[in-house]
Amino acid sequence: MKFLNPKTLVLAALGASAILAGCEAPPPETIQNGYRGLQMQTNYNPRLLQASLEANVPPDAIPAAAEGGPLANDVYKNVQVLGNLTVNEFNRLMVALTNWVAPEQGCYYCHVSDGGFEDDGIYTKVTSRRMLEMTQDTNAGWKDHVADTGITCYTCHRGNPVPEYVWTTDPGPGQPTALAPTGQNIASATVAYSSLPYDPFTPFLLQDNDIRVIGDTVLPQGNRRSIKQAEWTYGLMMHMSDALGVNCTYCHNSRSFYSWDQSTPQRTTAWYAIRHVRELNNDYVVPLTDILPDSRKGPLGDVYKVYCTTCHQGAYKPLYGAPMVKDYPSLQGPVPEGGFAALKAAEAAAAEAAAAVEEEAPPTQAKVEIPEVAEPAPEAEAVAADEQAKAEQPAAPEVAAEEEPAEATAEAPAPAEATEDAPAQEQPQQYPPRLQYPPPSMMRYPPAPLQYPPAPQTR
Ligand code: HEC
Ligand code: HEC
Ligand code: HEC
Ligand code: HEC
Repeated sequence: MKFLNPKTLVLAALGASAILAGCEAPPPETIQNGYRGLQMQTNYNPRLLQASLEANVPPDAIPAAAEGGPLANDVYKNVQVLGNLTVNEFNRLMVALTNWVAPEQGCYYCHVSDGGFEDDGIYTKVTSRRMLEMTQDTNAGWKDHVADTGITCYTCHRGNPVPEYVWTTDPGPGQPTALAPTGQNIASATVAYSSLPYDPFTPFLLQDNDIRVIGDTVLPQGNRRSIKQAEWTYGLMMHMSDALGVNCTYCHNSRSFYSWDQSTPQRTTAWYAIRHVRELNNDYVVPLTDILPDSRKGPLGDVYKVYCTTCHQGAYKPLYGAPMVKDYPSLQGPVPEGGFAALKAAEAAAAEAAAAVEEEAPPTQAKVEIPEVAEPAPEAEAVAADEQAKAEQPAAPEVAAEEEPAEATAEAPAPAEATEDAPAQEQPQQYPPRLQYPPPSMMRYPPAPLQYPPAPQTR
């Protein structure tokens, strides 16, 4: 105990404070995102924030293509997705794809140099075609998540053929097979260096295991929720926070993690985001398994997949919300039959017809004695034109509408709640069903990962 004399203690204290002062971050920038007094705030280190802002600047849009001219369908031989674009727009998009995905490699990254541009003999072209559809469907069908900001190839690719941030199922650090890999005592970058399950992606962003873990009974009477399951949820939450560069209170009021009423609107967006990412992986990326070469697969033979970081890269909105897709109508949704010119003409006709109707029958009651009240022709025409225009517009966001009822019945079946949250049958519900607490019926919850590691995908 000789070395614990007052002098050494003082020296140790001085040393410690010197070390701590060295680590001291600049005063954090604090953004409040909840009610006052709740400590719902996001702290930013100004230096890191500045670096992130600089790293997330989108490229300038290519000048708009000249209007008019023939459609790609009529000129090219093998266009399956972009056929309704004019040739000018088509070529503008080809240049944009090259800048976003293969700026160093050029056109021939996706085209066979001696086979002509119509040749499909290279996997990158076949992949790109599916990626085009994925981008269009995201922008048209997942507005609950991506809003009008939307995504382009650049959101994920950032000038790289393979996006920098992707994941594959992690077989784990070689534990005996009888042990479920839970990530105990292993700090993993995937979960922001916590010792939580290091692959929360397979169960939650590929499979659709229930993320909610808060039990509904005090004692485990039929309640199978456990700390072990909660660890998987926390692993995912660490990833989400890390990907968006925020902390838990960006979405939750930590006095009650389950309660939607007390959460921020961002949590609702995140709820859609999780479903969206599942769809991207299951409907678009995994089906490319047979097309993509082995060099694009993980140790278990599964392809590189999408998670929150793929787009967000540390920003609460990818590229800090730069609205890139507004400059590329061809990526806002499936291109309408006949191209944008035809759509515009139909819209103009509809507007004209509507204006005509308004002029002839103003909605004032004063003008009761109009000679011929019955002017159904223009109105009918307007409706017809309107309907035509609608039919030609990108598909309505069905996805959310489909997903909602399933969730609602499975998890919040209270009829009163349901009617309140989904007022009209035809209006897609905008918010996830509010969780009743305690939930009205016993929820059945599978132990985390149904299947782990998953059987190799055969699709
Ligand atoms: C990232 C991949 C990618 C890059 C890079 C790319 N293309 Fe394409 N290209 C495609 C895809 C996918 C199609 C098919 C589109 C469809 O089916 O609607 C296509 C089709 C074409 C066609 C139509 C051929 C036909 O007759 O069917 C032409 C012409 C073309 N590209 C030119 C170019 C040019 C010029 C460049 C370089 C400026 C380029 N492409 C760069 C993916 C790419
Ligand atoms: C949501 C994110 C996302 C968007 C948006 C996206 N991609 Fe991809 N892309 C991926 C992922 C993930 C892979 C990796 C799949 C693999 O290699 O296993 C990939 C792979 C590719 C590849 C294969 C590259 C290689 O060398 O193997 C091409 C080509 C490609 N994408 C083109 C495009 C084009 C063109 C667009 C825009 C129309 C686009 N991508 C939009 C996520 C995205
Ligand atoms: C970007 C928004 C977002 C962030 C950040 C976030 N969460 Fe979540 N959290 C959600 C969503 C959305 C759900 C519900 C997921 C679902 O039902 O599919 C959820 C669910 C949960 C649940 C389960 C609640 C229940 O009803 O059982 C817990 C616990 C939780 N989060 C904890 C955390 C913690 C701890 C952090 C910080 C490390 C965090 N969350 C960060 C959005 C977020
Ligand atoms: C395909 C690209 C893409 C992926 C993958 C993605 N996001 Fe997003 N996300 C976006 C875009 C684009 C926006 C901007 C929408 C806007 O402007 O309101 C956004 C916005 C959000 C917001 C709203 C932020 C705010 O402040 O309003 C949340 C929360 C969010 N995403 C959560 C997630 C989570 C959680 C994941 C992973 C499960 C995820 N996102 C994966 C593209 C993506």
